[in-house]
Amino acid sequence: MLFAGTHPAAAQPADGERIFRESCVTCHSGAAETRAPGLDALRSRTPQAVIESLMTGAMRAQGSRLSGAGRRAVAEFVSGKAVGGDVHGAGRGRCTASTPVNPDARAAWRSWSPTVINTRLQPSPAAGLTAADLPRLTVKWALGFPDASVAWAPPTVARGRVFVGSQNGTVYALDARSGCIYWTFSAAGGVRTAITVAEGVAEDAADGRLFFGDTSAQAYALDLATGREIWRRTVDDHALARITGSLTVHAGRVYVPMSSYEESQGADPQYACCTFRGSVTALDAGSGRVVWKTPMIDAPIERRGTSSAGIALWGPSGSAIWSAPTVDERRRALYVATGNTYSGPPQPSSDAVVALDLDTGAIRWTRQVTASDVYVSNCRAGNANCPAVAGPDHDFGSPPALARAGDRDLLVIGQKSGMAFAMDPDRQGELVWEYRAGQGGLLGGIEWGAAVDDRYAYFAVSDILQPTPGGLHAVHLSTGARAWSTPAPAPACLPAGPLAQGLSAEALAKAGRGCNGAQSAAVTAIPGVVFSGSNDGSLRAYSTADGAILWQFDTNREFQTVNGVAARGASILGPGPVVAGGMVYTNSGYGAFGGRPGNVLLAFGLE
Ligand code: HEC
Repeated sequence: MLFAGTHPAAAQPADGERIFRESCVTCHSGAAETRAPGLDALRSRTPQAVIESLMTGAMRAQGSRLSGAGRRAVAEFVSGKAVGGDVHGAGRGRCTASTPVNPDARAAWRSWSPTVINTRLQPSPAAGLTAADLPRLTVKWALGFPDASVAWAPPTVARGRVFVGSQNGTVYALDARSGCIYWTFSAAGGVRTAITVAEGVAEDAADGRLFFGDTSAQAYALDLATGREIWRRTVDDHALARITGSLTVHAGRVYVPMSSYEESQGADPQYACCTFRGSVTALDAGSGRVVWKTPMIDAPIERRGTSSAGIALWGPSGSAIWSAPTVDERRRALYVATGNTYSGPPQPSSDAVVALDLDTGAIRWTRQVTASDVYVSNCRAGNANCPAVAGPDHDFGSPPALARAGDRDLLVIGQKSGMAFAMDPDRQGELVWEYRAGQGGLLGGIEWGAAVDDRYAYFAVSDILQPTPGGLHAVHLSTGARAWSTPAPAPACLPAGPLAQGLSAEALAKAGRGCNGAQSAAVTAIPGVVFSGSNDGSLRAYSTADGAILWQFDTNREFQTVNGVAARGASILGPGPVVAGGMVYTNSGYGAFGGRPGNVLLAFGLE
């Protein structure tokens, strides 16, 4: 926030030296008693390594407050070397006046899911694709994200355009068929949420608006056609707050889920842990005004002692919301799913599904599935900020899907524990069934989200830290009984050749970091087909009938991009594929959470 948008000099080229003075030098003074490397030590780094550190490395909390241009400028300043190329990656590949706009109104995928119930099911005819078409899918175009090692934002589709955010904070409006760039927008921080499309928000019902959040906890509204900023608002004042879950827009309101970097910052024994609380904020879509804000923890923040490192400890904190809220219009409820607490005492709102009143934000009920989960990163390593017994870190990383099973509604959700649940929205979230899909662990279990159709719920398994990662499960919606499960095939990224042939799968998985069959990414369904991306770089399409793999594509390579930015695919984690109008869009590359780095958005279409 020192930089970008709010600063009068924002229109000027980013000034790396000034950013260093304002945001870095307090720690990076080079003074003998500091732990941070001084300028002379940083000179030996490449600018890419500094950008990396500011985005996913040790400096990600500091970097989250800078724009893409700001991170690049300060990295060029401290390293004394230039990066080169346009920071927005939009110097080439612009749409021209002759680019045909193809506003196929039916072909839309508007946020985390096509609609606010978060089932990640794209019905016909919006999908424009059936199982019979799969063999004809080929890569139609690719977009490269500059200064990025993680392709972490889910694309959305509407009016013949694709909207997508990126790690360096650039938001793109692209032609759905050709990938040419209509406009870009530069946010203050990185953009990991979907770019939620809303129509009929403005007075002019034909108008379109886009809503998203960034890693500096700001929410934005843009004009769909031009990318012009309509409003922006800081939704949480905590210095480490960030927005990772997509914003859900419904009936003139924008529901913003809040999470933070404090869970990883808490791993620093010098950090006074912890004070952040997850929350949901309802904003007026037209103005950005706060209608209500509901924190997930009500108890006051109190001093709870001194750590073994002599640092003040605070709590309770945590219950962050990592994923998009789900709207239940019939019950006028809004559902969110929470993560663990960071510091105690333990809270009833952690690792829970929480139902709020859509109109007032009042909490109606809380269904916790794992109690006493108090955890910050590196608790296993004896962190001074952790309780004597650290929690299992069993967050919910995805929203509950509001599903229809016969004549009843269910809330269906998977947890990092490896468990999947169906809850009764009419009985305060009482469990209707539970199903074990994986072993679970720090990186899931079930990580980024399930898909649900009228028969089954589909859960992909990460189990990235277990001996046998991956797998996709179909579960009967009404009973929770397994319909089928398909284990992960041999990883596509494994080194080939005689060496590889002599190794066990386990040894091979360890041989290449991030090269394993974990399926952490969100699952996507269309009639007859479920799509699941893998940490091994494969995108696969499964038959909903029996789990047979009908089609797969290996993204582990370099791609020619419409914008001319050098780009490669690698691990697929986080967001899942998006299907609309006969096209399939997926991100590839995830240099965090045990994945391999890459920076590409791929668009598949029919030959
Ligand atoms: C609150 C103190 C603090 C601030 C502010 C800060 N840093 Fe750091 N930085 C550190 C510390 C401490 C380390 C050593 C981290 C470690 O070893 O875990 C570090 C390490 C680094 C590294 C090396 C990281 C690596 O992965 O080896 C880079 C590059 C860096 N900082 C850049 C920056 C830049 C650029 C800024 C300003 C935008 C900044 N830092 C602001 C404290 C800070």
